[in-house]
Amino acid sequence: MITNGVVDSVELMHMANTILLTPDDAPDYVALRREMLQDAPWAFLASEAQDRGCDVEKVRVSLQRTDAAIVGIRDDGKLVASAGVVREEALKRRHIAMIWGVYVTPAARGRGCARAVVSRAIELARSWAGIGSIHLAVNANAPEAKRLYESLGFREWGLEPDAVRIDGRSFAEHHMHLPLTGV
Ligand SMILES: CC(C)(COP(=O)(O)OP(=O)(O)OC[C@H]1O[C@@H](n2cnc3c(N)ncnc32)[C@H](O)[C@@H]1OP(=O)(O)O)[C@@H](O)C(=O)NCCC(=O)NCCS
Repeated sequence: MITNGVVDSVELMHMANTILLTPDDAPDYVALRREMLQDAPWAFLASEAQDRGCDVEKVRVSLQRTDAAIVGIRDDGKLVASAGVVREEALKRRHIAMIWGVYVTPAARGRGCARAVVSRAIELARSWAGIGSIHLAVNANAPEAKRLYESLGFREWGLEPDAVRIDGRSFAEHHMHLPLTGV
């Protein structure tokens, strides 16, 4: 359980296998990113043709930032799970971190990988001075992901109807946040 962004020992155990990706991991991340956009297109706002996460050089540069990171898990050397976390850039929103790009390759699901990468991303955001809350959006077509976020302390604050359309099919998105500190 994570209470006000403070991680307990169970979550710490899950986080043990996680790594923070470095610029050298950019090609492997791009491969996983392409996979997620093909495997679960409704889960992500990005499309492969427009996505910065599918461009090795752009990913390499972003992995050098101090206010953004991608948490991963490798299994037998292969990158199988990821969660991105980034601090908002607008001066009036510097107190907010966003979690994005949560994905686990199908063969690695059901073993706590998503819980581990998201817990580590929360920990990282907590370590950034002045972060007051962490936000994310989850597709209404991914109730298992929503359950994970709720179990980590995220609460829904709004439902965006018709947030994503793919081939004429419309999907809503739940907007969730995890408050870390009061104002
Ligand atoms: C959602 C996803 C990330 C879960 O990955 P995972 O590694 O299998 O998840 P974990 O094993 O860490 O499970 C963590 C929690 O998620 C929930 N969960 C995960 N899979 C579930 C399932 N099939 N049914 C019900 N709940 C599930 C449970 O609450 C679980 O908690 P528990 O372990 O205490 O039961 C993965 O299925 C995935 O990548 N899906 C496609 C992309 C996607 O939907 N991403 C989310 C974008 S917001």
